[in-house]
Amino acid sequence: MKITILLPYFIAVRAFAPAPDTTPTATFCNDGIDMPRFSANAVVTIYWLQAPLFSILPPPPFPLPSVGDITDRMHLYHTAVAFEVVDQGVARNYTMEFDSTTSLVGGIVPHLSGQTPWNARYCLRPPDCPNCTGGLFWGPKHWTKALKPVLKVRGEHLNRLASDFMPLYNHSALYQPFRVTGKEAGAPDRIEDVTCNTGAQNLLEYLSRISDSGSFPLMNTSRFTLHAATVTKVNASDPELLSFYQELGDVIHLKRLYEFVALARGHKFVYSQGVYWQLSDFFHPYVSIDYVAAPDPFPPPHAFEETE
Ligand SMILES: *[C@@H]1O[C@H](CO)[C@@H](O)[C@H](O)[C@H]1NC(C)=O
Ligand SMILES: *[C@@H]1O[C@H](CO)[C@@H](O)[C@H](O)[C@H]1NC(C)=O
Ligand SMILES: *[C@@H]1O[C@H](CO)[C@@H](O)[C@H](O)[C@H]1NC(C)=O
Ligand SMILES: *[C@@H]1O[C@H](CO)[C@@H](O)[C@H](O)[C@H]1NC(C)=O
Ligand SMILES: *[C@@H]1O[C@H](CO)[C@@H](O)[C@H](O)[C@H]1NC(C)=O
Repeated sequence: MKITILLPYFIAVRAFAPAPDTTPTATFCNDGIDMPRFSANAVVTIYWLQAPLFSILPPPPFPLPSVGDITDRMHLYHTAVAFEVVDQGVARNYTMEFDSTTSLVGGIVPHLSGQTPWNARYCLRPPDCPNCTGGLFWGPKHWTKALKPVLKVRGEHLNRLASDFMPLYNHSALYQPFRVTGKEAGAPDRIEDVTCNTGAQNLLEYLSRISDSGSFPLMNTSRFTLHAATVTKVNASDPELLSFYQELGDVIHLKRLYEFVALARGHKFVYSQGVYWQLSDFFHPYVSIDYVAAPDPFPPPHAFEETE
């Protein structure tokens, strides 16, 4: 999708969306719970959930499109998973999300906004959470893009999420919304993204692997790609980096996101794997947003080790 087509959308989004929370306190998952311990033989159905990004925002006055309509047209979706657990004859739904624990700013500008870079984690919501209907966060009607059973496992496998899987990500995952790719067709990505999609995909990949339920089919997710031919490491005191982040970090609106991708001149920077990277030599289509089934590698600091 060309950025020229996106411009009116970003303007509309900026005009009618409330400014995202830019305070450094964690607002994500204040109402989350620890993983309950399930019976080993509880029957678990896992659902794949997707809704247009920011579609929980209140609708603007008629006839303006809602933010969800706009992000839907842009192929930008939020992904989560739900577990329907039947344990000792009682069925309950739990919603699990992986997200940046800080504001949007914290997700993009970790160090310079004074936040810890380990800023993404898993969050489990209980079946009776304040905004749950039918046990699902925001209710089943919210998940307009996907609400689909994709995997069956048992309680013993869910129990391993708390003991083996989540600790790796809860303390090391860095939210990174942009994927950076180079010019050569089929070349590996220069910089990987780490988003809610990645978190959902990896959780299901892990569960399918430990439960012998066969390989988990890659599901379609949103990918926001920057096409930059040159990617170089820079240190955090690089003056151009500082002024870039200062400008970006002052107030982050979606409009700013547009400016971030549409700036004709100057370098852009992303932070990934503990390093700041400078992007330059942008080439057509500069930015693309796709809804595709793509491998979503998400290297934790240590490879998973089977202890049995
Ligand atoms: C991971 O984070 C979630 C959300 O805060 C929490 O419920 C869970 O207990 C954490 N898990 C571990 C193993 O730290
Ligand atoms: C869990 O959610 C799914 C999908 O909305 C629904 O079909 C199912 O009835 C729910 N289960 C419970 C126990 O609420
Ligand atoms: C529940 O929804 C309301 C209205 O959208 C919102 O203001 C509130 O923050 C939500 N509560 C939680 C815990 O997400
Ligand atoms: C960081 O980069 C700047 C500008 O490129 C350079 O002047 C400075 O010496 C570097 N500092 C370190 C600690 O590498
Ligand atoms: C999923 O992605 C593939 C490309 O990987 C695409 O061909 C397909 O149309 C997508 N499916 C949906 C439902 O958008």
